[in-house]
Amino acid sequence: MTATIDPGRLLGNLDTLAGYTSTPGSGVTRLAWSEPWRAAVACLERWGAAAGAAVVMDAVGNVIAELPGADMAAPALVTGSHLDTVPSGGRLDGSYGVVAAWEVLAALQDAGMQLRHPVRAAAFVNEEGIVLPPFTGSRAVAGLIDDEELAALAPVLEQAGLPSMPASIQGWDRVAATVELHIEQGPVLDAESIPIGVVTAVTGQQRGTVVITGRTNHAGTTPMAMRRDALVPAAELVMEVEKLAGPGGCEVATVGRLVLDPGAPNVVPGRVEMSFDLRSVDDRLVLGALAKLRLAAADIARARGVEIAVVAQPATPAVVMDSFVRNTIEAAASAHGLSTRPIPSGAGHDCAIMSALGPVGMIFVPSMEGVSHHESEATPDDALVKGAALLLDTLVALDAADHG
Ligand code: GLV
Ligand code: MN
Ligand code: MN
Repeated sequence: MTATIDPGRLLGNLDTLAGYTSTPGSGVTRLAWSEPWRAAVACLERWGAAAGAAVVMDAVGNVIAELPGADMAAPALVTGSHLDTVPSGGRLDGSYGVVAAWEVLAALQDAGMQLRHPVRAAAFVNEEGIVLPPFTGSRAVAGLIDDEELAALAPVLEQAGLPSMPASIQGWDRVAATVELHIEQGPVLDAESIPIGVVTAVTGQQRGTVVITGRTNHAGTTPMAMRRDALVPAAELVMEVEKLAGPGGCEVATVGRLVLDPGAPNVVPGRVEMSFDLRSVDDRLVLGALAKLRLAAADIARARGVEIAVVAQPATPAVVMDSFVRNTIEAAASAHGLSTRPIPSGAGHDCAIMSALGPVGMIFVPSMEGVSHHESEATPDDALVKGAALLLDTLVALDAADHG
């Protein structure tokens, strides 16, 4: 019997996950390790058990459901995405790839079909990097978390009620391949009416924080010439960040968060914290942009008489998708009568991190009007169903091709 996904179960489970949010009526807010995230984890445990899979949560909070392979020695075929969201985000970013991964297990179980490789569905934790630097879950299984980061994680995990942390994190063995299904989060597939994007490469990114320290003082009594306002140099630096993107620079550059201290109308701000996010599929351009940001910060600090510290998080390098996995996705799409186009990803994905453990590939379905990281993020139901069916067929084809 051939395995086929159940559209009603897929779409119903997506609806269920969308209900786990701390901002009902205002998008999905399911920050990593939060209460709604815990509730969503419990769902995945139930759905995995119903599909006959062994379900575990690892030390950092990844949820993993696995069906055994016929060949005990074969490495796992992995599929999945992330369970966390940005604040007031959409119902599909991450959740779609997670629900589809669990649906693959259920479809195999329904058909009584055992693949040669184990099939591992993963819901990675903290992909978005809202709570701590991004990709915690996938970096943990790829063996990319160092002791310093482990120490920063410990209190967060304890507060979330996870079992106490081990002295080190157990990474996974090499995997046969990882395939992640995701919405495009951009406008291309929708604009061109193409149902499937086959990802060519995932962007590299460099995030971090700039801390500007001036002096807090009374807004009415401190003459303009005698202030050390932290916000005005921050505003200059925001303009400099925008200039980092463009010809010869990185692809995109964003300041998405600005925190003023103390943040009152009649007080000269004494401290500002601002985020930065620099991206390109060329890692050298990201590195160059960071160097320019540091220079601009030093110039502004001198001119304005404030202190500016640029604190960079570890960079996430760009990753090219595996050509065999790409070809397998394309062949499976063609068998479904689905047209495809190659497409780069400007968003980061766990799949890119998983390239440390084996070949990787990604399938995109259209995002209506290209909107994402917003509650209006949407994809038509039939496109979601087609994407999940393609994911299943791709994994079955990879299993048969004995890749890895
Ligand atoms: C994840 O969505 C990212 O690209 O920031
Ligand atoms: Mn996202
Ligand atoms: Mn995502």
